[in-house]
Amino acid sequence: MEDTLSIIKPDGVRKKIVGKILKRFEDNGFEIINPRYINLSKEEASEFYNIHKGKPFFDDLIIFMTSGPCLPFIIRGENAILRVRELMGSTDPDEAAPETIRADFADSIDSNVIHGSDSEQSAKREIRFFFG
Ligand code: CDP
Ligand code: MG
Repeated sequence: MEDTLSIIKPDGVRKKIVGKILKRFEDNGFEIINPRYINLSKEEASEFYNIHKGKPFFDDLIIFMTSGPCLPFIIRGENAILRVRELMGSTDPDEAAPETIRADFADSIDSNVIHGSDSEQSAKREIRFFFG
């Protein structure tokens, strides 16, 4: 069993696909823990994405992540970190494998509906970030 951190981003909430996204994880055997809507402040979003500070897309990423409520939650299951990334698909929906969440629902690389931790270390940090 492994825990990872996911966020349905503000575009996913606006598109009313929260239920569809959570169902995909549940249908794949995962448990959804502690989903709750929050509004990230600019400071919180900048801290969460601090590894991307200085990159060309950073400022727009912070504007996007603070543009409305998002839904962070923990996903628990076997090999959760890797399998959640697989179910999400590539960062750019044009490159995401068919039937992945991003291929099916995301508009573009900067509006890609979901976040998932990319490593054990990130998962630990990101779960602590949202859930203490
Ligand atoms: O989210 P993921 O781990 O797949 O990608 P990342 O490389 O860690 O980038 C984090 C987020 O920054 C992405 O999910 C996009 O929302 C955004 N991003 C962007 O807007 N433009 C890029 N060229 C790369 C990332
Ligand atoms: Mg990432």
